[in-house]
Amino acid sequence: MMGQDHVGRVRERALRAFAREYGGEATWAAAAPGRVNLIGEHTDYNAGWVLPIAIDRVCVAAAAPAADRSVTRVYSDDLRQRFSCDMRRDVRPGVDVPIGSWPSYVLGVLAECEIARQIGNLDIVIASSVPLGSGLSSSASVEVAVATMLEQAIGASMGVLEKAMRCQRAEHAFAGVPCGIMDMLTSAAGRADHALLIDCESCTWRPVPLPKDVAIVVFNSNVRHSLAGGEYARRRDACEAAASKLGLSSLRAARGEMLDDRLTDEELRCARHVITENQRTLAAAAAMERGDVSTLGTLFAASHASLRDDYRVSCRELDMLVESAAGEEGVIGARMTGGGFGGCVVAVVARGMEVRVMERVLSSYRSRSGREGMAFAVRAVDGAGAV
Ligand code: GLA
Repeated sequence: MMGQDHVGRVRERALRAFAREYGGEATWAAAAPGRVNLIGEHTDYNAGWVLPIAIDRVCVAAAAPAADRSVTRVYSDDLRQRFSCDMRRDVRPGVDVPIGSWPSYVLGVLAECEIARQIGNLDIVIASSVPLGSGLSSSASVEVAVATMLEQAIGASMGVLEKAMRCQRAEHAFAGVPCGIMDMLTSAAGRADHALLIDCESCTWRPVPLPKDVAIVVFNSNVRHSLAGGEYARRRDACEAAASKLGLSSLRAARGEMLDDRLTDEELRCARHVITENQRTLAAAAAMERGDVSTLGTLFAASHASLRDDYRVSCRELDMLVESAAGEEGVIGARMTGGGFGGCVVAVVARGMEVRVMERVLSSYRSRSGREGMAFAVRAVDGAGAV
């Protein structure tokens, strides 16, 4: 990732913060990108398919052996906050570090990676350009950056999938979110100018080139509903219950004709979303491969409708953004992206039209919702690496 503009600035900031906080220079530094999912929402934990890109917003973790060997110190340059903890003993989430707090993402990875024990306590700085808490995987980028920094420190790779899985375990135990593998795997395995078609059952992936004549634009609704956490786990439970009633180990093998009154209304809607979203994701990858952007746009619209009506994870503000974008010249498709209940919308836009589309959609969002949104174009970049 080294040498790329979007990494350089964050790296410089992390290194300056390191010198200020701890004196001296960081020995290791690694960067890991955030992600935006193009399509395949709430399918990763159902052993289905997803189609995300790693984006040119990154978290950098810079570190050196701890000056005081008896304690690991962590500093967040974005939050200007500090946390310390002795990592030579077992760190308990919820006891030694509050679950879901910013340091839990860092300590969770240290705790899940045995190699961290060999290195001992560390002084760590994290700095990020991924907007925090907006559904662009700011947390996965912290985790993958820390894990990649550990690989650099030890001089050996854990393997991309193994690294992503350790970060996922850290997120489950320390952040308290029963997430799938998509975010960490995308941050670790991203490929410049490509999306990744990830099969979340076999945990294998292949790069799918982005059509040349389109730009990817992200609209941040700037809302985050507090119910997000609990509702995510509830959807996951409903999917697991549906799969088990259908006699399947996951909804991956479910088909529309299997859905009947064995399922509650909620289970049926969730299963129907997962079945149709998997089909849309494979169709979207095929459409991208043949450069058929108009089919991609139709699939985006259907995905949003399914997330809104069947899976019920959209919200008023996301619907407004999607509706505003849909009516705009130059917009090929738009849908909510990530977990939902706020966060971001992703749009595929004809190249050259991005600036106009961003202005017009934000202005329409402002007048309809009374809120200020945010918009930026993103590029697909390579996954994590030492910087
Ligand atoms: C969150 C989770 C992912 C995935 C998405 C929904 O981003 O972290 O694992 O489940 O929601 O697609």
